[in-house]
Amino acid sequence: MKLELNTTKKQLASSELLILSAFCKKKKIDISHWDKATTKAFLNIQSAKHFHGNKDETFFFNMTKGLTVMVIGLGEQKPLNAESIRKAIALAFNQLKASNKQIEINMEHFMPATDAAHYFQAALESIYMSDYQFTTYKKASPQILSKIVMQIVSLPKKDAQTILRKVKSLGESITIARNFVNMPPNELTSESFAKMVDEDASKLNNVKVKILNKAAIKKENMGLFLSVNSGSAFEPRLVHLTYTPKVVTADTKHIALVGKGLTFDSGGYSLKGSMVNMKTDMGGAATVYGAFRAAVLMGADIKISCLLGMTDNMVNSIATVPDSIMTARNGKTVEILNTDAEGRLVLADVLDYACDQKPDQILDAATLTGSVLVSLGNEVCGLMGNSQKLIESLKESAKNCDEYIWQLPIIPEFHKDMKSPIADLRNIGSSRFGGSSKAAAFLENFIKNDIPWAHFDIAGVCDAQTHLPYCPKKGASGLMIRTMVNHLLNG
Ligand code: BES
Ligand code: MN
Ligand code: ZN
Repeated sequence: MKLELNTTKKQLASSELLILSAFCKKKKIDISHWDKATTKAFLNIQSAKHFHGNKDETFFFNMTKGLTVMVIGLGEQKPLNAESIRKAIALAFNQLKASNKQIEINMEHFMPATDAAHYFQAALESIYMSDYQFTTYKKASPQILSKIVMQIVSLPKKDAQTILRKVKSLGESITIARNFVNMPPNELTSESFAKMVDEDASKLNNVKVKILNKAAIKKENMGLFLSVNSGSAFEPRLVHLTYTPKVVTADTKHIALVGKGLTFDSGGYSLKGSMVNMKTDMGGAATVYGAFRAAVLMGADIKISCLLGMTDNMVNSIATVPDSIMTARNGKTVEILNTDAEGRLVLADVLDYACDQKPDQILDAATLTGSVLVSLGNEVCGLMGNSQKLIESLKESAKNCDEYIWQLPIIPEFHKDMKSPIADLRNIGSSRFGGSSKAAAFLENFIKNDIPWAHFDIAGVCDAQTHLPYCPKKGASGLMIRTMVNHLLNG
């Protein structure tokens, strides 16, 4: 799909279909923002009286000169908010994606009076996020929209171009992250995943790529990470990316991102009852890589480290059995009572390694617990950490991006529940209750030097978000990348 700007007041002569908005006021259509000619043509249509501009209602009509007009009902949504704009644009996109017409959107119809830049960005995000199909394994590739023109006059051309460039970087990074999550586990293994990230990241400016193989991970004494990998046919990988901005001073901030990259989670010897879709257990790694990539392309002025712990969790005769006690990179011993609580083991060692990079902050993302779905549904991301200041800042970023996030507590009692009678820690609590928070309490044991740290439990939001029209009904959502990028650029 090609996305172009039209910063003039006139529609392009080549446009075949123009998208406008209509509101509904006291059950009556409100098109007071339309020009005279279009209003007249619309009112001339016999069936126009049945269209009230209700939310999500659409209406098509033709102008005498040949242009087709699609009207999207926005209901009583005045003033508009960014999320309603994303949803309206996605609705249009989804209805038109098979039509292959040259489409022009009159953005002025989808923007409140102030802060045009913010709303224009939201509309563009929606287009990039809606324009996604995972077609790698389909013989017949579905039709896609060839060209969209965004008509925008309330922003200086330069500003509109800058926003377009920014959202393009973001959109492409979300696409790459979604593709990783959607790839089948027989093709996306720890070894191939690391190779693909290497290939992609090597093309980025000012990024250094380092990949630790099994021998290097052994050298790092990552006993917990290795215990998860012990049943695998593949070597583990720790991908370590470093972005250094062009200008570095003593004040330059450094944020480390850490991602859970379980290319498949069978549960290990504590075998899962149902493991369909556990290919998505590398969603944390995909999310933080997507955020890293986008922030780099946007020229972030902070240093960013991105650490991805990759392995699968499988069974063979040397796979870790429950009751094992393993030693972490930081020296703590862990009684592994359930091999299905593996994500925290991988993260523990990678978080300890992250602390050694001496960042000012650490953010991790992981499809860590089924429990987060029980507490927050599959629409809301769980957020936990050791610094209320960092948490508040991330909540603010999520709000700016209209992504749902909710803080869950880590209380001393949860820490106590993760202690083992025969080792320093155990990898599960005494009951299912408070599962997400107890997993986070476990992770906190691997944060040193009081580095502010926040943990995103994305087990619910990583996959199918059927309530969001700009996310595919099935498969990876790409959510939380926007929130993380917002934090990396402004946090
Ligand atoms: N990868 C799973 C969590 C998960 C569940 C992600 C559902 C996406 C959807 C994780 O490794 C896991 O198995 N967690 C266990 C922990 C338990 C054994 C303490 C869980 O949540 O059941
Ligand atoms: Mn598991
Ligand atoms: Zn897992």
